[in-house]
Amino acid sequence: TTDDLETQFQQIVEADQRIEPRDWMPDGYRKTLIRQIAQHAHSEIIGMQPEGNWLTRAPSLRRKAILMAKVQDEAGHGLYLYSATETLGVDRAELTENLIEGRQKYSSIFNYPTLSYADVGVIGWLVDGAAICNQVPLCRSSYGPYGRAMIRVCKEESFHQRQGFELLMTMMSGTDAQREMVQESVNRWWWPALMMFGPPDDRSPNSAQSMAWRIKRHTNDELRQRFVDMSVPQAEILGVTFPDPGLRWNAERGAYDFGEPDWDEFMQVVKGNGATSVERIANRRAAHENGAWVRAAATAFAARTASEEGT
Ligand code: ACO
Repeated sequence: TTDDLETQFQQIVEADQRIEPRDWMPDGYRKTLIRQIAQHAHSEIIGMQPEGNWLTRAPSLRRKAILMAKVQDEAGHGLYLYSATETLGVDRAELTENLIEGRQKYSSIFNYPTLSYADVGVIGWLVDGAAICNQVPLCRSSYGPYGRAMIRVCKEESFHQRQGFELLMTMMSGTDAQREMVQESVNRWWWPALMMFGPPDDRSPNSAQSMAWRIKRHTNDELRQRFVDMSVPQAEILGVTFPDPGLRWNAERGAYDFGEPDWDEFMQVVKGNGATSVERIANRRAAHENGAWVRAAATAFAARTASEEGT
């Protein structure tokens, strides 16, 4: 009976074993995974744009090669995650349609503009740093294909984080103007980076169930705290400050206290009213439409090859 299947499913999850595509799973579990993994895949693909914006203006050949590799990695993560989503019975064409029609979300962080080359460094350091903080525990997610995808994604994200930090270290040992450029960029990205972890726990409708299913391993606030605690010493090494007067060490808690992100801004961005929301989706739609002939050619080629093999 369904009750037996449900009990068996929950036992597998609680024993920290993996649920695989052909295993029985509750509808809600499947739906939640499709929602989260698709949203994650969309974020990787949309996330190519803010940094891609600087590819033609990289300050040196070396920086350009690094940035190009990084942006291509994000494409790879997106494709990898779309494949993981497909194991749940949806297809990529449908997911892309959902994204460009605004029916599925992607991370709030990619709705902010990249105004200087320092943003490339700060995105690597803080945005990819926050992504790692959120994604390392997802390597142990109960759904096999998602957890395994995360292992590879996290390795590449840590390269991204380090290239960002190295870029900023270089700028910080340059001129006063370069140091100011880095600080100005940190000021713009700090709060949006904290918002990446999602709404506070008491306003996170999905957390409790996702934790019970061991899709998520920590709450949004736990991971946000972990990110603040790891970032403060790094900021000290770099010689930058975070734009939060409430940020201070709390010896009793053994953690940093910090201020409240602007959750109204977060809600607006998630609703599609971010500074670059319209532009991001318009670019994605154009890329999809301009690529239609490539998909048609690949499909025709596959069909021809299959029929040749059949004869
Ligand atoms: N940006 C956009 N939407 C968000 C964000 C965010 N930063 N945080 C939460 N939301 C959305 C949720 O998707 C959910 O909406 P929905 O129910 O319509 O899908 C709603 O806000 C409420 O949030 P929660 O109940 O907390 O949702 P959830 O349990 O899914 O937690 C989280 C959100 C932490 C982002 C989780 O989905 C997750 O860990 N996802 C995988 C990581 C990821 O997507 N990273 C992408 C950015 S990193 C990168 O690509 C470099």
